Amino acid sequence: MTSSTSATPAIIPPDRLPPIESHGFGGGRDDLHAFCARVFTQPSPRFFRDADGHLVVYRNRDLQALGSAPEVGAVPPQSLFGPIPRPAAHSAPPPGMALAWTISNQIFTTNPPVHKPVRRLLSGEMGPRQARDMAHTAQTVAEDVLDTLAPIVTAGQEIDVARNLANRMVCGFWGRLLGLLPDEIEAIARHVHDMTPMFFLNHQPEDLARLERGAAGYRQILADAAARTLAYGGNPLIERLAQGLASIDQQGDLDETGIVPTDVGMLLAGNLVDGFHTAAVAVANCMHVMANRPEVMPALQARPDAIGQAVFEALRLEPPVIMLKRRLLADLTYQGIALRKGAILTMMWGAGGLDPDVFPEPGQFDLGRSLQGSTTFGGGTHLCIGRSVAPMIVRTLLKAMIARSWRIVPGDSPTNWIGGHVMCQTENFSARIVPMAPGELNA
Ligand code: HEM
Repeated sequence: MTSSTSATPAIIPPDRLPPIESHGFGGGRDDLHAFCARVFTQPSPRFFRDADGHLVVYRNRDLQALGSAPEVGAVPPQSLFGPIPRPAAHSAPPPGMALAWTISNQIFTTNPPVHKPVRRLLSGEMGPRQARDMAHTAQTVAEDVLDTLAPIVTAGQEIDVARNLANRMVCGFWGRLLGLLPDEIEAIARHVHDMTPMFFLNHQPEDLARLERGAAGYRQILADAAARTLAYGGNPLIERLAQGLASIDQQGDLDETGIVPTDVGMLLAGNLVDGFHTAAVAVANCMHVMANRPEVMPALQARPDAIGQAVFEALRLEPPVIMLKRRLLADLTYQGIALRKGAILTMMWGAGGLDPDVFPEPGQFDLGRSLQGSTTFGGGTHLCIGRSVAPMIVRTLLKAMIARSWRIVPGDSPTNWIGGHVMCQTENFSARIVPMAPGELNA
């Protein structure tokens, strides 16, 4: 990354940039698509500022460049939550601290020297090879979920895609992998759903209360499961993570570097928030793309080798994550914008996948396009560690549906998307799963 002062004549502080609201973006999936349709087809400012005066980065090449700049780090826990007590091993969080203590164990809140060893530990368990090894678990869960839905399919009834399909698939997958009990899998699905307001741009008091309850329940289930598994043995993944964690010789702090998770339960709780929540959003969003393009699933039945590409293309079109924050570890001037150490950046990763400079005709679902330059999973040092596992979960479910000659079609009521959100997440998405008609394959 090179700091550039030559591309534009004036150095502008971010709070002097045009507000993103003036271009119709207030959060959520519908605003993302409307915003991208506007800024990528009309002459538009290169950067915006958000409601807090922070730089908003939305063009693919700027996202790539800034995302991988060494000066652009993570937002540490106290920048996110204000002053918080340091999480203590094996203790319940003080009142109101369940979310803060959970997220403080997320590597997305860490910077050097804490980030590298914890990231290496986790990503060593989540790479493409490990994801392939986990596909068997995903397949078993997918078949269970689809078996449960079979009577509903036969009766031609609608399903709630998030609840009946996406959450069951994703929570069932992690549940099996981590040794959760059946009632814990059901409970964690509810808790993760309650944690959705974590990604809202503005919070009502009732949202915060629900979020805190959800975080407390979610965290406790993973803490219990990890402790139980370590006590009884038999889960090599958790044992390897616990050993790896114990060998990290760092402490970290809450206001700059972030912390090393206090124990393996907290490592899992912190870093699987996206594993549970965002991966379920990914399943629902992929199903939405399939439901609204009736030709795709029959075409994939004829070309099962293209299912993986179809999932990535669906997640480009309906990216689960619209935007996330980063923080400057050092001063940086980029394309005439002066950023000071400590400044916050809003990275609109979801917009990067809809940028026609990199993805021509971005609104088209195109199985032939190159997905080089995809920003669905972020970029640079904090690139998502779940980028192999999450698509594998979605792919396995889609494959299992196609193998049964099932496809998904929209329900009677239109899909609503949650507004004011940093995710593209459905609020109501009802659909029917129907058998593919015999002639459809060649349609
Ligand atoms: C389709 C589902 C998912 C999407 C769209 C997604 C998206 C993202 C994005 C955009 C980032 C930020 C990257 C950056 O700032 O450069 C990120 C980071 C991260 N994701 Fe995901 N994610 C998904 C699933 C998962 C899963 C399944 C896991 C866990 C297994 C996971 C764990 C993480 C972690 C730990 C980070 C922080 C990495 C770091 O700070 O080094 N994500 N993800």
